[in-house]
Amino acid sequence: MTINILFAAKAERWTTYQAPLTEALKAAGLEFDLRTDFPPAEVDYIVYAPNSDVQDFTPYTRLKAVLNLWAGVEDVVGNATLTVPLTRMVDHGLTQGMVEWVTGHTLRYHLGIDAHINGQDGVWRKDIPPLAQDRKVTVLGLGALGAAVSQALVGLGFDVTGWSRSAKTVEGVNCLHGPAGLTAALETAEILILLLPNTQATENTLRAETLEIMPKGACIINPGRGPLINDHDLLQALNSGQIAHATLDVFRVEPLPTEDPYWAHPNVTVTPHIASETRPTTASQIVADNIQRSETGQPLLHVVDRALGY
Ligand SMILES: NC(=O)c1ccc[n+]([C@@H]2O[C@H](COP(=O)([O-])OP(=O)(O)OC[C@H]3O[C@@H](n4cnc5c(N)ncnc54)[C@H](OP(=O)(O)O)[C@@H]3O)[C@@H](O)[C@H]2O)c1
Repeated sequence: MTINILFAAKAERWTTYQAPLTEALKAAGLEFDLRTDFPPAEVDYIVYAPNSDVQDFTPYTRLKAVLNLWAGVEDVVGNATLTVPLTRMVDHGLTQGMVEWVTGHTLRYHLGIDAHINGQDGVWRKDIPPLAQDRKVTVLGLGALGAAVSQALVGLGFDVTGWSRSAKTVEGVNCLHGPAGLTAALETAEILILLLPNTQATENTLRAETLEIMPKGACIINPGRGPLINDHDLLQALNSGQIAHATLDVFRVEPLPTEDPYWAHPNVTVTPHIASETRPTTASQIVADNIQRSETGQPLLHVVDRALGY
């Protein structure tokens, strides 16, 4: 029997996904009909972006699963009309993009590259940066992205500490977990990378009392989610010099309003939520693989825990 797959995302996504998704579904050996609209009662799976028009799942009476195209699920996880499994995106292209973005910004801080880019004034600044082995980097979140980022930084020689909710092992990384582990993870964080999901438990992970634990003059890189940081407290820490610099890719309100103080702050770099994108070719293979698993009675991969919110 034909599997009806609804693609529910912004129109521009359909133009990039239609061909690779069709190809991946065919390669998975599925007999399917992939469209952007169906009578809801005929839909088996929804390939989904939380900013699509589909917000009420009640009419989708034969739905088997919703496959999110994004890694972050905070805009759909609390939808009470969604009663079937929800999967999030774990995609090689997305992970690789994040590894490259975070590594670049970490090296910017580690090597003090700004001093030379901004210092072309005839002064011979011969400040030798330490080797990576003498630089302590902490990654909050050791999931698909945080673990990959940690390992890439270990590969460059950095002294990496990671922190997660439950106990984890990542080769070469000093892994800490739970509320008690956070203090130790922050105490050494000369460069701090935030790769936590946006949940009730992670909101304001960085606030006055946690920023205070970090070494004076530390740098922050946030490609996770805006609500992980209390913005007022971060601005105070930047103004006092407790935090030397922050690179922020994600915000509570996006696009970041023009009048937001982050834009004008000399010690903040704003990037427009570009740290990493789901890549249509690799992501389509993940979606097709999951539908094929579901159709052959295997468990879905990357199922969201609705109670934990990620
Ligand atoms: N800026 C961008 O372009 C971009 C792109 C993609 C994703 N993102 C963001 O990156 C986030 C992480 O993605 P991912 O795929 O790595 O997610 P993931 O695989 O679900 O990993 C989340 C990690 O955070 C940890 N965590 C969750 N709640 C916690 C808590 N209360 N205390 C301590 N640790 C906690 C988890 O701990 P456990 O290991 O114990 O479960 C896990 O290690 C996404 O949620 C999204 O917000 C941003």
